[in-house]
Amino acid sequence: MSKKTVLTGITTSGTPHIGNYLGAIKPAINASQNDAFQSFFFLADYHALIKCQDPARVAQSSREIAATWLALGLDTDKATFYRQTDIPQITELSWILSCLTSKGLMNRAHAYKASVDANRDAGNPDLDDGVTMGLFSYPVLMAADILMFNADIVPVGKDQIQHIEMARDVAGRFNHAYEPLFALPEAQVDEATQLIPGLDGRKMSKSYDNTIPLFCSSDQLRKLINQIVTDIKAPGEPKDPDNSTLFQLYSLFANEQETSVMRQRFLEGIGWGDAKKELFEYLDSQLTQPRNRYNELMNDLGTVEAILQKGAEKAKAVSEPFMEKVRIAAGIRPLNYVPVAKEVKTETKEKPAQDSARAEEGRRRAILMQLTPVFKRIDSAADKAKEAAVVLAEKAEEVEQLKKKAKQKAQNELDILKEELAKFF
Ligand code: TRP
Repeated sequence: MSKKTVLTGITTSGTPHIGNYLGAIKPAINASQNDAFQSFFFLADYHALIKCQDPARVAQSSREIAATWLALGLDTDKATFYRQTDIPQITELSWILSCLTSKGLMNRAHAYKASVDANRDAGNPDLDDGVTMGLFSYPVLMAADILMFNADIVPVGKDQIQHIEMARDVAGRFNHAYEPLFALPEAQVDEATQLIPGLDGRKMSKSYDNTIPLFCSSDQLRKLINQIVTDIKAPGEPKDPDNSTLFQLYSLFANEQETSVMRQRFLEGIGWGDAKKELFEYLDSQLTQPRNRYNELMNDLGTVEAILQKGAEKAKAVSEPFMEKVRIAAGIRPLNYVPVAKEVKTETKEKPAQDSARAEEGRRRAILMQLTPVFKRIDSAADKAKEAAVVLAEKAEEVEQLKKKAKQKAQNELDILKEELAKFF
């Protein structure tokens, strides 16, 4: 059985925080160690341009996200780790998919609708005010990210489920209109990591400005943890662990046994100051080693860049030949493209013999036409037999040099040349 493909992207518009780590990075790295799957993880830097027009921020975020994943131990020999913009086939596919995506479907996308709603609420008569085409067609680019690598499973946050459904929809349209080339992806949402609380107790998110950067300094980490909002219960008063941001963050890092010891201390009335100190010390001890590695990588970006380039080569080994198939399926082909022999055979299998003979004859004529210059060359040669032998040798040499698909085409030409030129030998 072939391996399932897991794929996810990280928009390069922010600094990785503890919520990103627990909710996305840690589970992804763990999954990539499982040999039952092949994983594709990428920096979604074209996605960053949709919401962030600060070039320094986009560039810095790409560095931080790449270094973070590597510092946390992503094995780039196992997983394919690349940058979206290094794979031009993704944007190419995005256009082809755009031509199959109905505008009405995009009108329903949450990100676009949120902007429209905000304009309406503000009494703005232009409901599309501030909406770019990038924002509007964002789900198509995301579909291209996913379909380019035929992902089966896409781990995402809840807010992204709709986009995966849209990718399925678009894949289905392509498969129906052209050829069934695309797998239908499924979203994978881990409920347990959906609600990682931030400093103020709401979901940790850049938009609430309540995050703890994953690799901030020890001092910064202590300061931020001290800012975590608590209630006014005094030391000694029992505290509800399940309603405490401090306890929840602790339990997301600690193992089961450590968590149950801490739960007990909450019930016994640990003071908030002590709880903060415990959380800081635990997180700091866990983060020190990857933080050091992160700082090393941030000071050695050439190495990180080289790793991304290697990842791009691995990704392109998939995307280049696959994109060629997609283009050909849609009719974007070399002018002298002739379906390869195998395709003709399967296609004509169910047809009456006469049709199949006609198809075969048509194919042969098309190839003969492409070979016209070669026949002319032989015709005008002094020693026709010698020239014919040279032509055959050249074509045989060409067949040897070519890749699979082109090889089949050249092989067809060689077969026909052999038949046509047999009279010279
Ligand atoms: N849009 C996603 C987010 O904001 C990031 C992303 C881009 C993505 N392309 C993707 C996620 C493809 C999964 C698959 O979180």
